[in-house]
Amino acid sequence: MEKHAPLILTLESTCDETAAALIDGQLNVLGSCIASQDSLHRPFRGVVPEIAARAHVERLLPVLETTLKQAGFWLEDLDAIAVATTPGLANSLLVGLVAAKTLAIVLDRPLIGINHLHAHVFACQFVENEGSGAANGVLNRGIYPCVGMIVSGGHSHLYHYRSPLDSRLLGGTIDDAAGEAFDKVAAMLNLGFPGGPAVSLAAEKGDPKAFRFPRSYWNEPEIRFSFSGLKTAVRYAIAGPGSVDFSSLNLSAETVANVAASFEQAVVDVLVHKAIQATGQTGESTLCLGGGVAANRRLRSQLAQACSENGIRLIIAPLELCTDNAVMGAIALEHFRAGLFSDLEIDIQPGLVR
Ligand code: KG4
Ligand code: ZN
Repeated sequence: MEKHAPLILTLESTCDETAAALIDGQLNVLGSCIASQDSLHRPFRGVVPEIAARAHVERLLPVLETTLKQAGFWLEDLDAIAVATTPGLANSLLVGLVAAKTLAIVLDRPLIGINHLHAHVFACQFVENEGSGAANGVLNRGIYPCVGMIVSGGHSHLYHYRSPLDSRLLGGTIDDAAGEAFDKVAAMLNLGFPGGPAVSLAAEKGDPKAFRFPRSYWNEPEIRFSFSGLKTAVRYAIAGPGSVDFSSLNLSAETVANVAASFEQAVVDVLVHKAIQATGQTGESTLCLGGGVAANRRLRSQLAQACSENGIRLIIAPLELCTDNAVMGAIALEHFRAGLFSDLEIDIQPGLVR
């Protein structure tokens, strides 16, 4: 296969997806493979860090092999090895970093440590085929400067980007991420895991005004979210305080749908409100949205409407690049071009790096 240098291998193991991709210098995706761990975590209704890390160990090499085979390249063809080193689950991050360091040493190629959140926003450069959710090889040019909103299982944050690698944190959640709230509410309503798609599906038949759930920091100038109070409000609405066995609640299908819809609307309202506030504060006219919760239909359509009313250009990552993947690790190309390589002493940083 023809390649446009440099050829970069990207690895992703920040949470519970093991992924690899092969990207060339024109952002062509030559190979990509994701091994989902959903079935391993489903019985626990949330990601279990120890299980996630062990599964990464088992899956990383087969995922790497599949990616290279798809692309028709060998390890020796690589020009650099990139890996997400922050933020994420410590042991999950470690598996990816150890693999990437080993490849860098054995192949004598540069190592590039990337920030997973900035990669989620970078995914907005890929365009999806109409309706298919799949990236089609066409690129959205000129998405920077922009405000980038990352809404995932671990993060709900807004950044001001001057360029892919030059950003300032505007603010984010002080407790749970939006996706975490979706997952916990799904568990309370006895819906599936991951919770986002399950709550969203149940919400389709519900009334978003049936319950009035809180919208934190609504009138505050700060870019700030809190979703833990919303979680508690949902819990009180369906079960009241005290210890509860949610599996024995016997809620009617109508109540489940109404709670799901009202919860989803509360999350969407605050995300849309703060995203518009952030663009106003920064003076930017482009808003990029990435992360697993960006797959949410209500969020996508209501954000699109708010952006069009406010004269903001909205770019949302293709559906298949909203949840964790290694293609968005193509941001490593920016590091490569800027000569920003990591030394072999680089460590993981599980917490948020500003
Ligand atoms: O970006 P991601 O794959 O992993 C992290 O970096 O955290 O995001 C996963 C999160 C999960 O909490 C999942 O429930 C949520 O994204 N999610 C959704 C939807 N699809 C995935 N939340 C709401 N609506 C969806 N359609
Ligand atoms: Zn993510």
